[in-house]
Amino acid sequence: MAKKKTRAIAVANEKGGVGKTVTVINLAAALTMANQSVLVVDMDPQANATRGLGILPDDELPSVYDLIMNNGRKAVEETVLSTQWDGLHLIPSHVDLSGAEVELVEAEGRENRLKDALAPVAGNYDFILMDTPPSLSLLTVNVFSFASEVLVPCQTHPYAFGALAELFDTVDAVREEINPGLYITGIVPTMVDLRTRVANVVMDQLKTDIRYRKLVFDTAIRSNTTIAESAEVGKPVVFYRRSSYGAIDYNRLADELLTRKHAWPASIRLKA
Ligand SMILES: Nc1ncnc2c1ncn2[C@@H]1O[C@H](COP(=O)(O)OP(=O)(O)O)[C@@H](O)[C@H]1O
Ligand SMILES: [Mg+2]
Repeated sequence: MAKKKTRAIAVANEKGGVGKTVTVINLAAALTMANQSVLVVDMDPQANATRGLGILPDDELPSVYDLIMNNGRKAVEETVLSTQWDGLHLIPSHVDLSGAEVELVEAEGRENRLKDALAPVAGNYDFILMDTPPSLSLLTVNVFSFASEVLVPCQTHPYAFGALAELFDTVDAVREEINPGLYITGIVPTMVDLRTRVANVVMDQLKTDIRYRKLVFDTAIRSNTTIAESAEVGKPVVFYRRSSYGAIDYNRLADELLTRKHAWPASIRLKA
């Protein structure tokens, strides 16, 4: 198979509950609807992206843990699963991954475990989307070390807005020390309900703040109960109910991601 020019995207935000996992699942599915081949790598021990793609984490299933620990006990090809949907593959998570955060501290090449493990399959996909845990652990550093881009879901809530500065500092630090090829693709407003004052305030802040305004996607993900419902039944919303706001918004986000040519180094915000 000819090697593709793969876009490896970390979906990250150190805050929990901002829509990272939902974005990974649904953006991945929407990209496959646009004829892109996608590998999802679930790097969160909670394994919600794994469940959301209809796969139950299971002790028998080789997971991303087996890839990055024990000196790569499993070859990457053994950990990649097909999902029910064409062109959408998954390397599942496992609860053991929470132990890896600690085990990695002592490990050789600890920041590059994932990057080294994924190398043999990286060129097989148009996109690799990686879900991350809600903390800056070595798991997230492993994702940033492999990624070429960071996509940042930001709930339209003041706390989430406030957390952006810290995330951008982290990305800057990783760029300097580990991966000079790491760029921020953009900030995606999530769970937006423009009937509320707070959502309007945060949307305005995102669009006017010189640190972020160039980075905000035109597409905002509206608050939509069908999204939570679809995650519950283990199906991306774009397949579960195509006419829902959630499906419409994630299809639109996929289109915007495909046409978005520029990704900025995080530090551009200082010169905006
Ligand atoms: N656009 C949305 N509309 C409604 N609920 C959402 C939306 N996005 C996420 N959720 C729900 O919010 C919760 C947190 O989302 P999740 O993607 O798990 O966040 P994170 O991965 O950042 O912790 C989940 O219960 C999810 O179903
Ligand atoms: Mg999550």
